[in-house]
Amino acid sequence: MKTSIPFGYVIVEDTIDDYDFTDLQNDPRPTLGADQGTKPQFKEIAKRMNETDPKTLVLEQTRILEDYPDLKEIIESRFNLFIYDIYGWDYKCKVTTSWITHLTKGDKVHPHGHNNCFYSGILYFGKYYDNSTNLQLVNPLTGTMRYLLANRSIEEGRNPNVQVDNYELAPYTGAMYFWPSQIWHATNVLQTDEVRQSLAFNFVPTENIYGGDSSLFTEWITNQNL
Ligand SMILES: [Fe+2]
Repeated sequence: MKTSIPFGYVIVEDTIDDYDFTDLQNDPRPTLGADQGTKPQFKEIAKRMNETDPKTLVLEQTRILEDYPDLKEIIESRFNLFIYDIYGWDYKCKVTTSWITHLTKGDKVHPHGHNNCFYSGILYFGKYYDNSTNLQLVNPLTGTMRYLLANRSIEEGRNPNVQVDNYELAPYTGAMYFWPSQIWHATNVLQTDEVRQSLAFNFVPTENIYGGDSSLFTEWITNQNL
């Protein structure tokens, strides 16, 4: 008997080990999660975020990589290499938004997805990830199954099942992952005292997309005279 996996989501793991993350580790602009604003260490940031108008907030909090152009270049070039590999075309993808997350003891990332982007990614630039919590990519196929059979756990002897199991991304210094943006993700509660730092980002293609009546030429949306 032979089984096949005919469809799939392509996830990338890469490592950046030739960049000094010190400035990022000291960057005072983490974007707070929904339930972090009441924590003493985040009070000042929460106050600033509440008092800032939406456009300024976007530019201050979610364009972090604009202040790290060398790192942005590394991330975009690695991502475009991957895209060329699976599409055979250089779509010259660029990072749009990028933002810092600091997870502290008792915090977790609630399930969410990223919109208005093609792929998303994360870079673990912090110093400490021992016993940290993994990022869980929520299996998008689970909700499409007509029967959801009860599973034994893998610990009880079940084999991994790509139709229902989530996929875990382990944080370690320099680890970088890319995944299709529609995949929701979350973490368990962080149990350790060390802050779990990360930088998340989104990509969009900037080359024209040729696809008949689904084509998209970038000049159509950037040139006001067309
Ligand atoms: Fe996210």
